[in-house]
Amino acid sequence: MMETVVSGIRSTGKLHLGNYYGAIKNFLKMQDEYNCYFFIADYHSLTTHPMPADLHGNVKQVLVEYLAAGIDPEKATIYVQSDVPEIPELYLFMNMNAYLGELERSTSFKDKVRSQPDNVNAGLLTYPVLMAADIIIHKATKVPVGKDQEQHLEMARTFGNRFNRMYNTEFFPEPYAFSLGQSLIKVPGLDGKGKMGKSEGENNAVYLSDSPEIIRKKVMRAVSDSGPTEENQAKPEAIQNLFDLLKLVSEESTYTHFDDLYNKCQIRYGDLKKQLAEDMIIATAPVRERINDIAADSAYLSKVAALGAEKARESASKTLREVREIIGFRKF
Ligand code: ADP
Ligand code: TRP
Repeated sequence: MMETVVSGIRSTGKLHLGNYYGAIKNFLKMQDEYNCYFFIADYHSLTTHPMPADLHGNVKQVLVEYLAAGIDPEKATIYVQSDVPEIPELYLFMNMNAYLGELERSTSFKDKVRSQPDNVNAGLLTYPVLMAADIIIHKATKVPVGKDQEQHLEMARTFGNRFNRMYNTEFFPEPYAFSLGQSLIKVPGLDGKGKMGKSEGENNAVYLSDSPEIIRKKVMRAVSDSGPTEENQAKPEAIQNLFDLLKLVSEESTYTHFDDLYNKCQIRYGDLKKQLAEDMIIATAPVRERINDIAADSAYLSKVAALGAEKARESASKTLREVREIIGFRKF
């Protein structure tokens, strides 16, 4: 039987190169080979972005960018999480089986406690439970995500297995984080430290919708240093990050060219950044060029969302019917 794939991106705004290389590039290749469900995680976005004024626009932005990137509604089921009420119902059941201690130990929860200490809501705590429900509701085994999501996948396996043990069944298969490449990807940001992300400040991320001028400006401002002083010296984090980005968007010969210059202490970071910006512009051009046209076609967007919701509910309601039966709910 064909394996099922599920993945989602939170609707918290524009997509960046981290989302593109960490998640979407994999979606594109998988939609030809697997039974794929790609959704927009709008419930998840409420844990950090609760404002009604932003909600619909952000969902639309992600839907438009999925389609502009080439995710094809004829091949994959594309849907909005909040169109599938079976997901929150499964989340409720899974919550009965998730322990406070393990939820508090999750890295993403601890990060959020640090970054938004005034809003440590229960939704943040149970975020991995909702994510598990997203995945196991379609009995998925493969989940294309970036490296940062590995722990969430481990928790999804824990919750699914616990359900199976509790009810003495083999109902849920184990889902694993998946990349078509050799390993899960972590795209670095432009600020010299850590990953690219929306919450790391405006200049850290390059968005798929950024114009070539903006991309040039952001990349030229990226953090670097005064250059190596010894031949073949190890690269400090900020410099390694620039090389990692080159590896993603540039030809191998370009990477080797700058790597050689670095090793000979002849590198000029201005030249590297110029090249990096141009290669990012080329890599994202096909997506960028389609965003405005797709965004203007409201009829198409509503058709895609309606079709996706119908297909996703078909699969989700079948699982939920069986789950209710396993748990022991009966009609009078
Ligand atoms: P963000 O981290 O920007 O808020 P999400 O959390 O919604 O975006 O992530 C959506 C997908 O994009 C996930 O699969 C995540 O692993 C991937 N992703 C996000 N940032 C990166 C990154 N810097 N490198 C690799 N993958 C990433
Ligand atoms: N937690 C994921 C992120 O922040 C988004 C997400 C929610 C997801 N539910 C999912 C990813 C299910 C894959 C499968 O990136």
